[in-house]
Amino acid sequence: MFRLDGQVAIISGGARGIGEGICEVFLEAGAIVVLWDINDGQAVVDNLKVGDREIFYQRVNVADKGSVDNAVEEVISRYGKIDILINNAGVIRDRSFMKMERQEWDTVLDVNVTSLFITSKAVLPHMIKAKYGRIVSASSINAMRGAFGQTNYCASKAAIQGFTRALCKEVGKHGITVNCVAPGFIKTAMTDSIPEEMLKEGIKQIPIRRIGTPRDMGCAYLYLASKEAGFVNGITLHANGGEYAI
Ligand SMILES: NC(=O)c1ccc[n+]([C@@H]2O[C@H](COP(=O)([O-])OP(=O)(O)OC[C@H]3O[C@@H](n4cnc5c(N)ncnc54)[C@H](O)[C@@H]3O)[C@@H](O)[C@H]2O)c1
Repeated sequence: MFRLDGQVAIISGGARGIGEGICEVFLEAGAIVVLWDINDGQAVVDNLKVGDREIFYQRVNVADKGSVDNAVEEVISRYGKIDILINNAGVIRDRSFMKMERQEWDTVLDVNVTSLFITSKAVLPHMIKAKYGRIVSASSINAMRGAFGQTNYCASKAAIQGFTRALCKEVGKHGITVNCVAPGFIKTAMTDSIPEEMLKEGIKQIPIRRIGTPRDMGCAYLYLASKEAGFVNGITLHANGGEYAI
């Protein structure tokens, strides 16, 4: 397994689902994990804090500059650096386009895209100073293939890929890489509400014949966050069991 010993990793949306899986895998790899979530993350901290592992929860709204800036300031005074930023927090507000309200569009774009402007701006000065950094953000399989009722979500997840390709050109010279992961069908609270029959049909579309897990995603993020991935920059890692081969 790739190691992150002593590296400080901020993981947004870590209080459940894929984010929780990323926290778990990063802790196993030796990282100091800073869990950001708008909801309570203390239960995850209590669950994952075994032995001498270091995990620290901050209540953060990634779409709010003040909230992010305060959290980053506290991380720097506590640990002195930020090596890794994982922009995993995301939301859906599904509705067919003709019925979609402006508020549903704005919320998804704010939380999924504008947050990257806010979080990256906050951590980059520290990464540039350290001449090292890894930024990895959550895109989605639906950015490429589209999905009914998700014009807002698909637009946001495609924007994340464009942001990634552009920012990587600007900060690479500082030893910082910027990439994203596009998860496929992953078992989380979101997918738990899918009826059994639909789930079975969905799995039939996946060549490896199973749904992905938060740990699968944690491992994909771990690779891109590792020192060893230093020559991989500006990519989207498609982690979908072959469902959408690109
Ligand atoms: N589950 C899937 O199948 C799947 C597939 C493709 C992409 N993704 C993407 O992966 C990411 C994680 O997905 P998930 O299924 O674990 O989602 P989830 O809804 O289970 O968890 C998302 C977490 O983000 C937090 N969050 C929401 N808004 C926030 C904000 N403004 N500030 C801080 N935290 C906030 C939530 O409280 C929650 O803990 C998302 O960006 C999602 O779009 C998921």
